Amino acid sequence: MPSPSLKSRSGLRLICLEETASTNDYLRLHAKELQDPVTLALAEHQTKGRGATGAWLSERGANLLFSLLTHPATLEAKDIFLLSQMACLAVCRGLETLCAGKGFSIKWPNDVYWGEGKLAGILIENELTGKRVADCVTGIGVNVNQTSFSTELPNPTSLAVIEGRQLDRALVLEAIVEQYSSLYKALCQGDCEGIREGYLKRLFRKGERHGYKDGEGEFRATLETVEPSGHIVLIDDEGRRRRYAFKEVQHII
Ligand code: BTN
Repeated sequence: MPSPSLKSRSGLRLICLEETASTNDYLRLHAKELQDPVTLALAEHQTKGRGATGAWLSERGANLLFSLLTHPATLEAKDIFLLSQMACLAVCRGLETLCAGKGFSIKWPNDVYWGEGKLAGILIENELTGKRVADCVTGIGVNVNQTSFSTELPNPTSLAVIEGRQLDRALVLEAIVEQYSSLYKALCQGDCEGIREGYLKRLFRKGERHGYKDGEGEFRATLETVEPSGHIVLIDDEGRRRRYAFKEVQHII
């Protein structure tokens, strides 16, 4: 399925799998022997696809299921959230080149949305050596041509639903990988401000008042920002500043 130009891209090793448990698991298992700048593992079907909170469900052959392995040795562990920001931004920018005029947004910490619907999910798994990131596996699931979804999913959408037509998955993959490769090059050169700005510019519900849920219950707040550390900052209706790490709070959709 990958396009000829992706197959011949320098600095990119491509691994195409008909079926695997999870492309993230595949690359984690082989990370030490795969030392190209970027390795892409792509599957038509995953038998144990994983999301941040459970299984990642996807119709066989309809969508994109892939993971990117990099070795960002210059990146310090304290800057690790840049890897999430980079992946989200690459997906948004890639999709923007194919679906002109459609605004894609990033739901903290790393989902890609169109309107109120979840279009893509990202699962990042890092291997640290001391204070450095030795291996980064970025798993990306994009709903491309699927139009009916499990009732277990609260708010799925797909490019086919948005555009009203089926899309060429090879072109979608190529557009995202092209953006990812160029952002990764910038990251390796220490050029990180553009990544942070691009993420914040597309942040879902930024500056708006909505419902949230933390360990104590539900509340309403305005999303102020996401810090470089990855913490989300909310201002609640009492004017109190609330700062949360990943999984400590969730949006009510
Ligand atoms: C989420 O939104 O919960 C993250 C979903 C990530 C899904 C992708 S599909 C390719 C890669 N392999 C996996 O097992 N998960 C990621």
